Amino acid sequence: MRIVLLGPPGAGKGTQAAAIAAAYRVPHIATGDIFRDNARQQTELGRLAQGYMDRGELVPDDVVIAMVRNRLQLDDAAIGFLLDGFPRTVPQALALEAVLAEEQRPLQAVVSFTIPDEIVIRRIADRRSCPDCGAVYHLESAPPEVADICDRCKGWLVQRPDDAEDVVRHRLEEYHAKTAKLEAFYRERGLLRELDAVGPVEEVTRRALALLDGKGVSR
Ligand code: AP5
Repeated sequence: MRIVLLGPPGAGKGTQAAAIAAAYRVPHIATGDIFRDNARQQTELGRLAQGYMDRGELVPDDVVIAMVRNRLQLDDAAIGFLLDGFPRTVPQALALEAVLAEEQRPLQAVVSFTIPDEIVIRRIADRRSCPDCGAVYHLESAPPEVADICDRCKGWLVQRPDDAEDVVRHRLEEYHAKTAKLEAFYRERGLLRELDAVGPVEEVTRRALALLDGKGVSR
């Protein structure tokens, strides 16, 4: 399975990616998570990415492309992958296409999350994340068992710095200016599958799996 999840910030890509990757037993590769891990460990990549992330801007294409190229070479991605948050620009999409063409393993589908901006702004306002293990919660739809404490590692939950409302609005502007045009890019290639991302998590998961099964992607 070689799939891309495309959609605005807070659309539920990470939430659905976890369920889809488990169903298809492929690695979930989320560029935002890789940058946050690197920022936590204070690597050179993490320090470089942090400023862009905090401002709600995209990290430069050459940095992201090199990082994803390396990640796709790791053994676990040989059986397939679920890309979440990459590509986000036309140059990134062209680079991915070239890498996969070299390896003769083209993408099978691009799932595009459709959801109004006002709903993602509300979802993000109530998102809480664990800075230690990366687990994601929502105050209403997916609350932790104990308020402010991560179920998984018992760390303190926080709001991501880039989840402040002014930064979220800038991330949405970046999405509409640079990433939304990838819908046309992948529609032209016959790969685009639109997913209605509004509704309860389990309902959206059912729709996503039905879309992929309908596309002939085998589990
Ligand atoms: P990244 O981490 O990829 O952020 P994003 O795409 O903006 O996506 P989010 O993580 O905000 O949201 P999501 O769609 O995963 O939603 P979630 O499932 O958490 O990127 C961060 C930054 O890294 C970028 O701004 C950029 O700087 C940099 N970057 C990353 N990739 C890059 C690239 N390719 N090029 C350049 N720069 C890059 O859900 C949101 C909330 O809603 C959660 O609380 C969740 O519990 C809840 N929720 C989910 N589904 C539902 C539902 N159905 N009903 C109710 N609540 C729900």
